Amino acid sequence: MSDILATDIKIRVKPTPQSRLGQLDFENLRFGREFSDHMFQMEYKDGQWQNAEIVPFANLSLNPATAVLHYGQSIFEGMKAYKCEDGQVILFRPEANIRRMNISAERMCMPAIPEGVFREALVELMRLDAGWVPQSETGSLYIRPFLFATDEFIGVKPGESFRFMIFTCPVNAYYTAPVRVKIEMKYARATPGGTGYAKAAGNYAASLYPARLAQKMGYDQLVWTDALTHKYIEESGTMNVFFVTDEGLMTPPLGDTILAGITRDSVLTLARDWGVPVVERRIAVDELVEKLENGKVSDAFGAGTAATIAHIATIGYEGKDYDLPPVEQREFSNKVLSYLNDYRKGRLEDKFNWNLRV
Ligand code: COI
Repeated sequence: MSDILATDIKIRVKPTPQSRLGQLDFENLRFGREFSDHMFQMEYKDGQWQNAEIVPFANLSLNPATAVLHYGQSIFEGMKAYKCEDGQVILFRPEANIRRMNISAERMCMPAIPEGVFREALVELMRLDAGWVPQSETGSLYIRPFLFATDEFIGVKPGESFRFMIFTCPVNAYYTAPVRVKIEMKYARATPGGTGYAKAAGNYAASLYPARLAQKMGYDQLVWTDALTHKYIEESGTMNVFFVTDEGLMTPPLGDTILAGITRDSVLTLARDWGVPVVERRIAVDELVEKLENGKVSDAFGAGTAATIAHIATIGYEGKDYDLPPVEQREFSNKVLSYLNDYRKGRLEDKFNWNLRV
């Protein structure tokens, strides 16, 4: 634990001689395609973290044998920063992302990242690139920390050298319209004993093919079911999934096949605080379909950092589409989304100690 908390690593800062900020069109941000001026990087070799620095955003140069390119020993996080009316930058729940990154690292045989350096790198990046944080109501700075094996060796074994990096992207909404999802009854995102609870790059690669099949059928994303029986709902797309039914706010419980989403936790915390009945239990596909048929699902949405709340318009199951009520009528998801927006923009009291003001 002590090395995870160590803060004696100094971060060197080499600011960019030429900011690209003037070229950014804040009105037309494309998710994940515009990159701020600086990035953080740090190496792990000879059993320790070293060479922590913030440098101008630039391409990487890698040996073709670099381990991550072959066996996918790579993890990442997604987090966001917001700009208040007075121009101050707020990092939303950074401690939760830092903790989860190290949970993923352990599962993937990677060294833990010293929490102090991680936090300091985030804060320093926010200071340097504050101008890149959108001020608009729907804009934010998406932050992408990631860690990958850099050994130049193509034998299969856990890496001995790694690189940890953080870059940031000014973004707008991830989804521009409510999504159509299909309940997946053949492929799986995660298996018991697998890496589903870790934010491992390979989990996302494995999800692409089944998602593409669904997209060919006119859906945007999948609702994943458990790998062994396909009887139970797990997640939706790259997000945790929620349904508001006659029982209350329902979501599957965490386990080794479900990512412990920070937005998921925020939604549950708020629902409990507001006295909304929360039902965290396995949700059978049959049971959900029966509720859909009987009009007992008034709201459904995915929750994740990129989208915050992605309203689900339609759920497809075995050739039949179930349409949910119009988004304007969704009481819970609209309330939670607007509350989270106000909270992260610093307009509300920081009741849960979620905002780190930079
Ligand atoms: C998130 O919502 O945070 C995600 O993981 C989506 C990301 C892969 C773009």
